[in-house]
Amino acid sequence: MVALARTQSFAYDAETSAFAADVITGLSAQRKRVPPKYFYDEKGSELFERITEQPEYYPTRCEMSILREQGADIAKLIAPGAALTEFGSGSNQKARILLAAAPQLAVYVPVDICGPMVEQEAAELAPDFPALKVLPVAADFTQTFALPQEAADAPARVGFFPGSTIGNLEPHEAASFLRNAAKTLGSGARMIIGADLVKDSETLNAAYNDAAGFTEKFNLNLLTRINRELGGTFDLSTFEHHAFYNRERQRIEMHLASTRRQKVKAAGETFEFRAGETIHTENSYKHTPDSLAALARGVGWEPAGVWTDAERRFSIQAFSLPKTAKV
Ligand code: AVJ
Repeated sequence: MVALARTQSFAYDAETSAFAADVITGLSAQRKRVPPKYFYDEKGSELFERITEQPEYYPTRCEMSILREQGADIAKLIAPGAALTEFGSGSNQKARILLAAAPQLAVYVPVDICGPMVEQEAAELAPDFPALKVLPVAADFTQTFALPQEAADAPARVGFFPGSTIGNLEPHEAASFLRNAAKTLGSGARMIIGADLVKDSETLNAAYNDAAGFTEKFNLNLLTRINRELGGTFDLSTFEHHAFYNRERQRIEMHLASTRRQKVKAAGETFEFRAGETIHTENSYKHTPDSLAALARGVGWEPAGVWTDAERRFSIQAFSLPKTAKV
């Protein structure tokens, strides 16, 4: 589908039109914002990989070590012949660890909005798990979608949502995700979620302000992307990376702060910034076992297990839907 963006004399493709619409809405708001999903262009994905290698950024390392060291215990939740569905599978890196720990799995369904990537990653994974049926699905995992027949017919279904991606969702969005996942997986399903934990602000603030500056680059790259794809005029030397823990709301907030009063064009519109005014670019919610359980219970999922690293920095939390649940 090709749509014409407002006041623009050229056509954007569907994806760029959606980006333009979100940027126009977000920068026209009282409190300026851009959704965090737009961080992940090619450069942004590469910068996120660099972030995960920084000594201050503990979540990825912690989650992988929990899966490696406690995978066998987590895998006890998975019935023989079950189908594992991963929501937002990306590189399958974490699924590989769980799949290795749960040889009783018969089917793996990686789900990602990026069709070519989900196909490619599935093709690379399949030969390493010859006994497993790998059935990639291109879909928006925040909505309901149909499972492939073999997964729907399997004796049990388990969802997998690693990476603390749930932290990017507002609490009402996280609830809606879990409600939709219940519909997709059906009654009797289980769900394994990676969630970052509430902790001291020093550790949290350091993780989002790494000394090498990769998080700053990752945040600012959003403006580079707007400049390139939406004809933006952002001068990156006049915006600063701000990231801080908001204890009251249990979240890291990332912003881009204008160092001066200025006008910037993007997507065919002009936006005014006051000195110090920010664009809110991300929330990364931190959970406790209780806060996530309360959220999940509200939409029918019962807590079924919690695993953490020794320092209780990160958690893998499991939930189950009663066999009698109406979904
Ligand atoms: C990919 C959403 C889990 O919230 O920690 C890392 C993204 N932002 N540094 C996170 C991110 C800044 C990350 N998630």
